[in-house]
Amino acid sequence: MPGYRTFFREFRRHFHTTGAVLPSSRFLASALARYVRRGVEDDVSGGRRILEVGPGTGSVTDRIVAALRPDDRLDLVEVNDEFVALLRGRFETEAPLQAVADRVRIFHQRVEEMQQEEPYDLVVSGLPLNNFSAEAVEQILDVFAELLRAGGRLSFFEYIGIRAMRTLVSGKAERQRLRGIGAALGSVLSRHEIRRQAVWMNVPPAWVHHVEFPPRPTRGVAP
Ligand SMILES: C[S@@+](CC[C@H](N)C(=O)[O-])C[C@H]1O[C@@H](n2cnc3c(N)ncnc32)[C@H](O)[C@@H]1O
Repeated sequence: MPGYRTFFREFRRHFHTTGAVLPSSRFLASALARYVRRGVEDDVSGGRRILEVGPGTGSVTDRIVAALRPDDRLDLVEVNDEFVALLRGRFETEAPLQAVADRVRIFHQRVEEMQQEEPYDLVVSGLPLNNFSAEAVEQILDVFAELLRAGGRLSFFEYIGIRAMRTLVSGKAERQRLRGIGAALGSVLSRHEIRRQAVWMNVPPAWVHHVEFPPRPTRGVAP
């Protein structure tokens, strides 16, 4: 319950970045963690590097942690101070999270500012993309592609019908923003989506998109 209270308070204080009244249901969280559970066909032996973006109070984090293999490492990147404090406390005090805490890092910053290290095998995002500008969504999708290794997978969600509904009740500028987001997402999904799943047991119901980014073209080396 403290998690729910914090989430609702942060929804009211920071609607733009929180983007939801309630944390994801366990059904949505489980769908988002699909490839953490199942792995990726070409998983190399040894641990995987996993990034969760926008963990909030940790409802998806719980599912990811439950599916971690012994050598996996998990990074969390969260912009909101209250959520970061709550998550740090949870990793110190809750047994399932404590058990993996030495393989988890929490970055208190925007994902757009993450430094490139070794590429990630999986990125799981809870960002409320439909709240952002079209340019911000394009930038975030580029950042995800840069952070992932070739063949790495991105899982993210959006609420079903949310853009269509908002478009019906919005003015020109807002409709243009929503069209821009649709175009940015459509450009990635039409080329790289490998699976889409509807999750009805969530408030509101959501699509979960799974994307596999192809190898980036390598530049020819001058002789
Ligand atoms: C819709 S909530 C999802 C929370 C949680 N993953 C869940 O499903 O219940 C969006 C989360 O993304 C975080 N967030 C928003 N913009 C961000 C950014 N640019 N970088 C990192 N986190 C961000 C918010 O603070 C919030 O925790």
